Amino acid sequence: MIEVQQNKSLKNYNTFGIDVKAEYFVAVSTVEALEHVVALNDYPEKLLLGGGSNMLLTKNQKKLVIHLNLKGISIEKEDEDFVWVKANAGENWHAFVLWCLAQNFGGLENLSLIPGNVGTAPIQNIGAYGVELKDTFVSCNAIHIKTRKTQTFTKAQCNFGYRNSIFKNEVKGQYVITSVLFKLTKYKHQLKMDYGAITSELKAQNITNPTIQDISKAVITIRESKLPNPKDIGNSGSFFKNPVISKSKFKTLQKNFKNIPSYPISEDKVKVPAGWLIETAGFKGKRFGNYGVHKHQALVLVNYGGAKGGDILNLSKLIQKTVLRLFDISIEAEVNIL
Ligand code: EPU
Repeated sequence: MIEVQQNKSLKNYNTFGIDVKAEYFVAVSTVEALEHVVALNDYPEKLLLGGGSNMLLTKNQKKLVIHLNLKGISIEKEDEDFVWVKANAGENWHAFVLWCLAQNFGGLENLSLIPGNVGTAPIQNIGAYGVELKDTFVSCNAIHIKTRKTQTFTKAQCNFGYRNSIFKNEVKGQYVITSVLFKLTKYKHQLKMDYGAITSELKAQNITNPTIQDISKAVITIRESKLPNPKDIGNSGSFFKNPVISKSKFKTLQKNFKNIPSYPISEDKVKVPAGWLIETAGFKGKRFGNYGVHKHQALVLVNYGGAKGGDILNLSKLIQKTVLRLFDISIEAEVNIL
């Protein structure tokens, strides 16, 4: 039996810990139940909720909130070097990464400890420490909400970019991802250690010949030192994307800000860490009652408990305005504002 609940608090369903209500809420744990629920005509508008790790809820939700709870991990095929692993959408991302590491399957170790679920990871092409989801992604299955047809999206069709995919653009809100297929290494792991923080963490631990498990541990240590655990302090990871600007604009900025960091993107473009811009604008560690900017990472906005989504949204707007005024750079929110 599928039970639609009314006036359900979403506090425990979003990592920001914002206490708004869903007028209608239903949790589904099978594809059949999901197909049934998306067809419910009494609720024309639906909102899919996975791990709730990339959203800021600013008001009570009038749509039918569907909480995806589809569980299961399976090995679909393997050859000498690779294994194809399918994970259902409701699997917790980090638990899935740990499962892969326990089997010694490589490719996801740099993505350890990212909050959220498997099914929402492709939407924003999650990424950290030099690796993105797209690097091991093969395909995903999704249900078209209107027609209830199942469709497979290949990597090419997903059109992945930096924290971006077709699911944030052309087909936004039209599909529910039910499972994701990954291609992982069995023996010849390709370790990605270019990221400075990983190199220094491994060095600090005296590890010269790291395994994928060592990399995962290093990533966990780094993340725990910079990023607040949503279980302790509500947050949604990076609130903004790192902006890409022209090299000529960057050179102009360097005149006033000699130590402004950057990463090359193309011949004429660089990426600037939004965390640096926000810190330089004076917001790092700023607290406004029960919400503010994290003290170790200015890109992360936090709810100390009981904050309103609207207050955090207003803070994000103030940050955007200040960064624009100081640096003439627009920073875009990474999280979905709902
Ligand atoms: N920085 C500051 N002050 C800060 C934060 C950062 O000056 O308060 C500067 C420093 O120069 C630092 C640089 O920014 O060297 C980069 O910082 P960090 O390594 O923490 O990475 P990030 O660019 O702030 C991105 C991702 C994170 C991901 C890390 C590691 C985005 C929007 N964020 O953050 O992803 O974990 O790199 O790869 O691209 C997320 O998306 O939710 C997320 C946490």
